[in-house]
Amino acid sequence: MLTPRQQHCLRGIGITRWQERSSVVPMTDEFPVSDSLQNPDVLPASSPAEPQVGEHAPVSKPVVQPVAPPTQQQFDVSDWPHLLDSIEACRNCALADSCTRKVPGKGFEQADLMIIGEAPGHEEDLQGKPFVGRAGQLLDKMMMAIDLDPKKVYITNILKCRPPNNRDPRPEEIQACSQFLRAQIALIKPKVIFSVGRISAQNLLQNSTPVGKLRGIQHVLPATDIPLLVTYHPAYLLRNPAEKARVWQDLKTLRRLLNHAAD
Ligand code: URA
Repeated sequence: MLTPRQQHCLRGIGITRWQERSSVVPMTDEFPVSDSLQNPDVLPASSPAEPQVGEHAPVSKPVVQPVAPPTQQQFDVSDWPHLLDSIEACRNCALADSCTRKVPGKGFEQADLMIIGEAPGHEEDLQGKPFVGRAGQLLDKMMMAIDLDPKKVYITNILKCRPPNNRDPRPEEIQACSQFLRAQIALIKPKVIFSVGRISAQNLLQNSTPVGKLRGIQHVLPATDIPLLVTYHPAYLLRNPAEKARVWQDLKTLRRLLNHAAD
């Protein structure tokens, strides 16, 4: 049964009809398993649309994370004060000059859950904090719907600077920022990573598989043993509210995975 608070939160994110877990998801801690998602070329041409949570479906294999090329300045990211100073000082790509403020991340530095989005938008660029605009408000409601306090989560992005006009991040910008995200993950040591949106998911998993095929599956962050789940970006949900039902499935999987990790 959903608690009245959960029902309130679900209404808040726009889900007015939902199915109880028992009618949708088998009561099991098992997650979908597969091995072919790293390389989209090996996906069968007629791969099933989106595996349902709890069915047998793929788990992706880790691949080696790229390291920054030697031309980029390597910063001291060994602890939080150095990491934050380093992000502030970084001029490894042109976005450092066009952004208003650096947006390192927000939340609890010992969080069990780390949420990773794409890049700061307009509001985030002004405030220096990730996910503070409309998408961020929806993300908070998504957390609360599964009884997670957004302040107990750590939230960051692939990029720490806003790309002009919210254009997609470029590979060299992602590369330039990657030492900071790797350091954040190493310092937080999250039990679970929740990757929101295509840019986040494809870069973390080092593939080009559409989000619709990456969600509903338990991945592992390459070169680590950290479980990683993928879902749609909240900004996409604001434009496509019909997808909220799928995201609710992803949130329930996330809740189970966190419960499992806490055991
Ligand atoms: N979208 C993102 O991916 N990150 C933010 O911080 C805000 C919007």
